[in-house]
Amino acid sequence: MPSITVHTAPAYDIHIGAGLLPSTGERLRKLFPKAVSAAVVTDDIVHGLYAPALLDSLRAAGFKTAEYVFPNGEESKNHERLLEIYGFLSANAVTRSDVIVALGGGVAGDLAGYAAATWLRGVPYVQIPTTFLAAVDSSVGGKTAVNIPTGKNLVGAFWQPRLVVCDTDTLATLPHDIFCDGVAESIKYGVLFDETLFDLLADGRAKERLDEIIRRCVDYKRQVVEEDERDTGRRQLLNFGHTLGHAIERETHFAISHGKAVGIGMVELTERTERLGISASGTAERIASALRSYDMQTHYEGRIRDLIPAMRGDKKRHGGELSFVVAQCVGLSRLHPVKVDALEDFLCGKGD
Ligand SMILES: NC(=O)c1ccc[n+]([C@@H]2O[C@H](COP(=O)([O-])OP(=O)(O)OC[C@H]3O[C@@H](n4cnc5c(N)ncnc54)[C@H](O)[C@@H]3O)[C@@H](O)[C@H]2O)c1
Ligand SMILES: [Zn+2]
Repeated sequence: MPSITVHTAPAYDIHIGAGLLPSTGERLRKLFPKAVSAAVVTDDIVHGLYAPALLDSLRAAGFKTAEYVFPNGEESKNHERLLEIYGFLSANAVTRSDVIVALGGGVAGDLAGYAAATWLRGVPYVQIPTTFLAAVDSSVGGKTAVNIPTGKNLVGAFWQPRLVVCDTDTLATLPHDIFCDGVAESIKYGVLFDETLFDLLADGRAKERLDEIIRRCVDYKRQVVEEDERDTGRRQLLNFGHTLGHAIERETHFAISHGKAVGIGMVELTERTERLGISASGTAERIASALRSYDMQTHYEGRIRDLIPAMRGDKKRHGGELSFVVAQCVGLSRLHPVKVDALEDFLCGKGD
């Protein structure tokens, strides 16, 4: 099974394929020949499904194991849980020569990753993504974070994992709704970089081609992370659909989940950039049709105008400008800065 290597410092491999979980222990042992403990951080749903196989494999490879299990969901990505994790690491005497293992979706990855970045000023960690979104996005690139009451991901660190093991079999238990969040993020990679990748997703049959889709998305993520680890340049392209998407998440009090909000954001934005002559005509409809093939919503039910205040507070704002990512056509994209004062002209035509 060929792996993808991300050339950050240090470099790390991403293993993608079916049936990898039972060999995770061996893979970790090769990387950490002297480690004593593997401290697993996971949520209560994933724990029931996949912790037994993982723990068996870690023990078989000679690791002493310990588990921290938190209630599933975004609400757990907070400082209270983080403090509990520090207590757990302390109780199990986890040191810099041991390893933390994040097993689960983006919440487990971000939370365990941030704990790893900060415990003893940084200990190694490994990502084992079990959602489609975590597989194509959050497990790669080293962004770790927790939320605070004033916003999501406001406290965090760049801390690269030492290995990512994506066992595609684990995605079989995902509810359709959660699977779709990963579909929308994967469609994003297709629109940004690669029409043939987009076509693999556009007929509603991503499940039949998961290995290939994940591999190709992750390889695009690898390229932008290698070029721009700290998110000051090219990595910003990955925010396509996200400025509107974040505002939609906030306005709907997170009733519309991240991936689905990004899907709507991509369509709504591209309809507007088509009108402005920035995007080739028909681009928005192609994205919408791909989302519809998974029964995802394509448009925001409220007025786009009402999202502007939330967008003004976007974390990605630089001074008086917001950097939008625009699709020139499916497969080609670029940054397009818009002055905050001009947001209304950019986004709102008649009826918006
Ligand atoms: N670090 C990054 O670069 C980055 C990028 C994108 C998103 N994120 C973060 O990721 C988080 C969202 O990630 P997510 O969508 O994976 O959410 P999540 O981790 O909450 O998982 C969603 C739900 O799926 C369940 N689940 C996970 N794997 C399962 C499986 N195999 N079978 C059945 N159920 C399973 C979980 O228990 C949870 O209830 C957000 O906090 C977001 O900020 C981070
Ligand atoms: Zn996203």
